[in-house]
Amino acid sequence: MSQKRQSKSAQWHRVQEQDTQVRAARAQGYRSRSAFKLLEIDARERLLHSDVQIADLGCSPGGWLQVATQKTDGKVVGVDLLPTKPVVGAHILQADFTQEKTIATILELFDGRADVVLSDMAPNLSGIAAADQARAAELVRAAMNFALRVLPPTGRFLSKGFQGDDFPLLLEEMKKQFMTVKILHLQASRAASKEAYFLARGVRKA
Ligand SMILES: C[S@@+](CC[C@H](N)C(=O)[O-])C[C@H]1O[C@@H](n2cnc3c(N)ncnc32)[C@H](O)[C@@H]1O
Repeated sequence: MSQKRQSKSAQWHRVQEQDTQVRAARAQGYRSRSAFKLLEIDARERLLHSDVQIADLGCSPGGWLQVATQKTDGKVVGVDLLPTKPVVGAHILQADFTQEKTIATILELFDGRADVVLSDMAPNLSGIAAADQARAAELVRAAMNFALRVLPPTGRFLSKGFQGDDFPLLLEEMKKQFMTVKILHLQASRAASKEAYFLARGVRKA
């Protein structure tokens, strides 16, 4: 990884440090405040069950992996550009998810089928809004294309998104591929954040 990318990641981790929710997460044994987001979504939407196989894209430092492995006895696979400390019950890869060889490895680990695809991937921010939004949208599309390859007709796809020019377009693209798509605004998101989550269920037949 380039030095610039590493310092942006370090910056993201510093912001985390300052956040009171991070302290609350730590007190409950979670590695990131993001864990509260997945818990909130699961409480509202009954997303995770005890026997599902789960892919977690952009999994570092591992909060969602902790929640996912608590919820299921099925296979859980996480991937991130950054290292992720081991989580019992999860198989973790350090790799760029957008590379086809990473996707091939994940597909192999699942034997071609996962029930739930989670993506909390976020690009390193350049500060140029249009470029950052475009990169974020690319990650959503990459995650969606993977979900369409790996999910059965009853599968679920959850992805972080950022409200901006690309957001309505992504929503339309997703609606073409899935039976239902909901936009979730979370209490666990930072007040100033533009993030919202897409929750898609039921893969439409081609
Ligand atoms: C908000 S964090 C994820 C937090 C995680 N859900 C948790 O609960 O701990 C976003 C992550 O996406 C990762 N990411 C961004 N682009 C990626 C890519 N192309 N491949 C893999 N991971 C990526 C970043 O490295 C970062 O760790």
